[in-house]
Amino acid sequence: MIIVVDFGSQTTHLIARRIKEYGALSELVTPQKAIRTIRLKEPDGIILSGGPASVYEQGSPQIEKEIFDLGIPILGICYGMQLMSKIHGGRVVSGKKEYGPARLSLKSAAKELTAGKALPDKFTVWMSHGDEVKKPFIGAKILGSTDDVPYAYVGDVKNKLYGVQFHPEVEHTENGEVILKNFLSICGESVTNVPLSVPTLVKNIRKKVGDHYVIGALSGGVDSTVASVLMTEAIGEKFIPVYVDTGLMRYDTDEHIEKIFSHLKAKPITVKVKTEMFKRLKGITDPEDKRKAIGKLFIDTFDSEVKKLAGQGKHIKFLMQGTIYSDVIESRGTKHSANIKSHHNVGGLPKKMNLKLIEPVRQFYKDEVRKLGVMLKLPQEFVMKQPFPGPGYGVRIRGEITRERLASEIKADQIVMEELKFANVLDKVFISFSVMTGAMSTAVKGDGRHFGEVVALRIVESRDVMTATWARLPYDVLQKISSRIVNEIPEVSRVVYDISTKPPATMEWE
Ligand code: XMP
Repeated sequence: MIIVVDFGSQTTHLIARRIKEYGALSELVTPQKAIRTIRLKEPDGIILSGGPASVYEQGSPQIEKEIFDLGIPILGICYGMQLMSKIHGGRVVSGKKEYGPARLSLKSAAKELTAGKALPDKFTVWMSHGDEVKKPFIGAKILGSTDDVPYAYVGDVKNKLYGVQFHPEVEHTENGEVILKNFLSICGESVTNVPLSVPTLVKNIRKKVGDHYVIGALSGGVDSTVASVLMTEAIGEKFIPVYVDTGLMRYDTDEHIEKIFSHLKAKPITVKVKTEMFKRLKGITDPEDKRKAIGKLFIDTFDSEVKKLAGQGKHIKFLMQGTIYSDVIESRGTKHSANIKSHHNVGGLPKKMNLKLIEPVRQFYKDEVRKLGVMLKLPQEFVMKQPFPGPGYGVRIRGEITRERLASEIKADQIVMEELKFANVLDKVFISFSVMTGAMSTAVKGDGRHFGEVVALRIVESRDVMTATWARLPYDVLQKISSRIVNEIPEVSRVVYDISTKPPATMEWE
């Protein structure tokens, strides 16, 4: 068993997930409880996670020095490595900030660390740090460096203590799997895979809800679709799916939802609230305020549906949500992680409505949810549906949402999707959309000067949502999208391509 000490990184849960995928057990603990838990449970290895703090900062999470006296292998990742250096004879400084890809060059001594699996001399790793190790912990030698970071991968092989400045747990770090599996084998863990199981999930739902009524929001996305199908498999018509059409959903959602409805063994409800939505969004420009306003209308709509159903003798006890693991991490985070965005599908609703929450796919990542969809024999178009945020176009229009700007956004979004489909690249990207940036620029359309809005294209590749890189699309495809947008939407003056990685930039602009 591996203990993962959580210093608050956005990707701490990914470390636990990887360990689970590789077939070993793990437990997450807070730094405060770490030593006590380690003494009690005697794990085979310890991983110290990354975190947003600085090791010398007042109040930053720490760990007792005695962790080095226990004879247990340790791997420190980013902040974890810096902390190992700070408390065990090394030094950390505020360095050049670095986010995203870097090339790691390995020393030959690192090769023997890979348990027989060859690592190339150079490969790409993902960084996300502000501080830097100037002197590593006692006994550590350099195993790999990048151009900017000499101590990118260090180890005291004799005492089984390792540190990496990069994040081996994220999918865009090449060979991260080899490095983590190697650490597990150093700890004496065997490495196999753990399967997902539909019958177990269905059984768990039945056990939790008994014969009560459950209401649930369907957005057309893969998470709520898979969660809803699991619900109807478990309790049939006692599950009542609801589609709230806010007017901010993707242009093809109505049609898509109809198809899903016809697939469910349940009686669905559709509620249209577009007019009310515009009323409530009037004058709001702050992204978080927008999210809150959209979330609030959801709550109010659900509230009134639950009351109507009660009038028909259907007393709802549970609210089903298609929350997945990355929503939980990015929204609430762990104790030390910074709150990034309030995702409106987490929290809020049941408290006011006095409903219990059921989240059938909460412990899974997007790719695992898709695998569940395949196991449930859902059509490809349901399973591979591109993610779309709950607040919809609301977070893709910077500043105030007016009917005119929404119309431009819908048209631009449709062009992006059509052209990617036409070029046969839609399946290769994780998410693709246009953003009404709120920035204005000059264009000459026909013979006249035109001062119009700048549209940004955000098209990224990702598997687990936590990291992403911009899609290297053929220039011709980008050109076609750009020309169509400026030609077909009179209010738009120019199109730019967003080439930021995540981290640091999130996928959505708001
Ligand atoms: P970010 O922008 O955080 O996006 O890199 C990661 C994934 O989450 C989606 N997203 C949201 N989903 N409510 C949602 O239901 C939200 O407020 C929200 N914000 C971002 C985003 O589309 C991407 O798939």
